[in-house]
Amino acid sequence: MSEEALVLKDVKKVYRTQTEEVQVLKGINLTIREGELAVIMGPSGSGKSTLLSIAGGLDKPTEGRVVVGGVDITDMSEEELAKIRARKIGFVFQSFNLVRNFTALENVMAPLIFTGLYTWKEAAEIASKMLEVVGLKGHEHKFPGQLSGGQQQRVAIARALAPGPDVVLMDEPTGSLDVDSAVRVLGLVKWLNEALGQTIVIVTHNPELSELATRTFYIRGGLIYEQPPGQILAERIKELKGGAGSRELKSLQLSMLKVKLEALERAASRGVADPGVIEAELKALERRISRLEKLLA
Ligand SMILES: Nc1ncnc2c1ncn2[C@@H]1O[C@H](COP(=O)(O)OP(=O)(O)OP(=O)(O)O)[C@@H](O)[C@H]1O
Ligand SMILES: [Mg+2]
Repeated sequence: MSEEALVLKDVKKVYRTQTEEVQVLKGINLTIREGELAVIMGPSGSGKSTLLSIAGGLDKPTEGRVVVGGVDITDMSEEELAKIRARKIGFVFQSFNLVRNFTALENVMAPLIFTGLYTWKEAAEIASKMLEVVGLKGHEHKFPGQLSGGQQQRVAIARALAPGPDVVLMDEPTGSLDVDSAVRVLGLVKWLNEALGQTIVIVTHNPELSELATRTFYIRGGLIYEQPPGQILAERIKELKGGAGSRELKSLQLSMLKVKLEALERAASRGVADPGVIEAELKALERRISRLEKLLA
């Protein structure tokens, strides 16, 4: 039923400096399935950001394989990776990383345009719907400097989710927020996972985030360990299912996915991308659409 969104196979990472060799990751095996919300914890310096960069194709492992949405990205060239990243992987960083002289709408449109799949009009339509999803309707034409930290992080989340990536990777997404904004952003993250079925991986050293997770991991000594889910958590997840407004959200999502499906089919017929990659994405999209249609029926 559920497909693998992200697979790390025996990933090792060694950093070499002039004086020493640090083995940060010593053989990480991790499989995240579609629809999961994984929280990976570990102390400062344990290799969380390293792991996330490798999972997202921003850095190469010293050894091992990285598979995102069924596509092995380990040996891809920088050029291929850039395209794949734009479509299959969303990043959210501690410091938002929005383009200062782009409006909120333009920030969310940017990765969509970069995929080369969407027309300007389609990108604007998807972006404005995504901003609505994260609760920023009416803020489309503001620049990052005119938004609060929490609002900026929501723009960053909308930007990461807009291309419908196989997985969204978040590195300390609430690290620069005050407590209230952090709670609001985390509520949004949980809701996006629940209502949209978006696969999300968060790395953090804050154990409170494990409350959000459907799966929890620890990194220690270069290895990763899974923490079995507690009963309380399982109960809380059940309670969260079918939250308010989720129906509208689902139909909003469905209409976005249909725009994407059309764009992808167009891309496939023009042969603008690797047919294997397109086919995997079409399948993933069709699965999402039929899942949503079932939920809405
Ligand atoms: N480019 C690099 N060259 C050499 N060593 C590095 C490099 N990047 C990271 N390291 C080392 O790798 C280890 C893991 O770093 P990483 O940033 O992944 O940790 P982290 O778990 O994200 O920590 P934090 O919670 O502080 O963000 C650290 O010891 C760090 O010094
Ligand atoms: Mg880090």
